[in-house]
Amino acid sequence: MISCQIFGNPIETGAVVDEEHLVSYEKVSEESLPETRLFSYELDQKDIVYGLGETMGGINKRGKSYVSYNTDDPHHRQSMPSMYGAHNFFIIDGKEPKGVFVDSPARVTFHVDVNHSGVVEVIVESADVKLYTISGDGAYDITRQFLNIIGRSFIPPLWAFGYGQSRWGYKNHKDIDKVVAEYKKVDIPLDYICLDIDYMDRYIDFTINEKRFPNMKEYVEEKKKEGIHLVPIIDAGVKVEPGNETYEVGISNGYFATNEEGGPFHAAVWPGMTHFPDFFQSATREWFGSEYHKLTDLGFEGFWNDMNEPSIFYSEYSHKQNKIDQILDFLMPSRAEKKEGSKNNSYHDYKHFYHMVEGKRRNHHDVHNLFGGLMIRASGEGLSKLLNKRYLLFARSSYIGAHRYGGIWTGDNHSSFEMLQQNLSHMASLNMCGFLYSGADTGGFGGNCSRELLLRWLAFSDFTPLMRNHSALGTKKQECYRYDQPEDFKRIIALRYRLLPYLYSEFMKAALNKDMYMKPLGFIYPNDEKARACEDQLLVGEGIMIAPILEEGRTKRKVYLPEEMIGVRFDGDHFAEKKFAAGEIEIDVPLNEVVFFIRKDHKVCIANKLVKSTKDLNLRDVKYLGYDVEYEQYKDDGESKL
Ligand code: NOJ
Repeated sequence: MISCQIFGNPIETGAVVDEEHLVSYEKVSEESLPETRLFSYELDQKDIVYGLGETMGGINKRGKSYVSYNTDDPHHRQSMPSMYGAHNFFIIDGKEPKGVFVDSPARVTFHVDVNHSGVVEVIVESADVKLYTISGDGAYDITRQFLNIIGRSFIPPLWAFGYGQSRWGYKNHKDIDKVVAEYKKVDIPLDYICLDIDYMDRYIDFTINEKRFPNMKEYVEEKKKEGIHLVPIIDAGVKVEPGNETYEVGISNGYFATNEEGGPFHAAVWPGMTHFPDFFQSATREWFGSEYHKLTDLGFEGFWNDMNEPSIFYSEYSHKQNKIDQILDFLMPSRAEKKEGSKNNSYHDYKHFYHMVEGKRRNHHDVHNLFGGLMIRASGEGLSKLLNKRYLLFARSSYIGAHRYGGIWTGDNHSSFEMLQQNLSHMASLNMCGFLYSGADTGGFGGNCSRELLLRWLAFSDFTPLMRNHSALGTKKQECYRYDQPEDFKRIIALRYRLLPYLYSEFMKAALNKDMYMKPLGFIYPNDEKARACEDQLLVGEGIMIAPILEEGRTKRKVYLPEEMIGVRFDGDHFAEKKFAAGEIEIDVPLNEVVFFIRKDHKVCIANKLVKSTKDLNLRDVKYLGYDVEYEQYKDDGESKL
């Protein structure tokens, strides 16, 4: 059962679509109230709090505070209250399970059993809010009800489930050709390469740097023939550049967000001074989405959206404030130490930044969390009009609802085992919020990735829909062929390609049935306390349980089996199967092997042949692992719209 209380006059965020009218609405107050609202929920000692999408911490969110205020802060750490997305859905799972979705684009704070308070406190900065409450038969049932009202997940083409290589710093076609050639040399499959900001002309959206990429159209086609898609980045800010068509059309039609005087708001990002499209206006969304024709005309079919919190390096307002801050920090060092959060999302900028929302001018701060998601919507709607097949799109900042138009990646993590563990927890809570097509920068964005870490991380990313190795400028180069014994990397990535018929089938079934693709163990084994407490294993689709190695220096780990399962060990070529009784076992996992488990009475289909790109993958040429039962495999051409 889903009920929604409406306080005041909330902004329509587009998160809930409820085509089947599953929600009963109750208007609580006509007038929006001036004060901040507080909602409080009691917890039993054994209750688990699941959810909150892209937030730091484990699968069980108890013991921490989280703030939905989309933030570009590249120093991911456990104490960090906000990340790039605002995913205000959580479930208290216990005797009386309850789901709560706080639909508000303003700042929302969640204190979840902080200092063992025994309560979840939700503080909503806006007095205009929709509060959805869902009751049901446990966390999984409640999540499925929620996924039903927020609508179907974005579905990318099959090639988007292949392995992707990316790095901030690929400068020109020669760099790209080298990556393709080196991967071929070591015989490791590859499906796409991401183009970071350097493919553009001076970081201007929808342009190509012709010196670096002469004849881009032919180049994109040539790579496609080799089984490699090129995936360019598009940033939120449009460079202030008289003469550039995107800028000129944006300015003359009033498509940009404004400052308090009503002129376009100026802020500096990669290209220098930019204006931000006012994604809150449907005309702006339509225009921005149609701008992608400049890239789809060249043959591109996949994109990533970045800096859409939006991230602002400085504006004239924060510039002044930064100078004052620097002096004060110098005079009072303790003041500087206490600072939390990111300069790239400064109140001093946002204070002067305005949008037209539902016909009214609103300050950015009031609707901040929706900006990134609306960019995804603009891009996704544009791409579905431009292409007569599925597109790939993943973005950094998001709000629930944007999952219908694109996937997300979890931003600027770093090369550490802690971030790998975080990746696992994120997958569980992002799936609960509809973001099925997601993943992290495999190997870590910041810092230098060791051979061991990359192998272990790939062994986990084998199972995440978005499997992309991405790293930052200035860090140790992280492509698999740069490490000793690349054949070990080949073994790990080979598993992904052999498992693709299953992974794709399970993803598609989850998306089409508004279900989860990855789940915490407690969702399927709700009466098993050990399964409920498990923070380092996940279920992938209906039939697989994974228990990856998440710690440095380990070649063994304990695995909890809530029921009898078949363990599968893949050594790059062969799949060895062994039955285990329910309970705790210890497994050996050398660096160049992957072990996973097939749930009792389940079966998994695997490709007979290892291919070098999904272009050559035949979803029908499969064999089976696991129990002798029926398996309904979802198959299609991997690109037609659904
Ligand atoms: C920040 C993004 O998070 C990162 O992935 C990208 O490489 C840089 N921007 C440069 O575009």
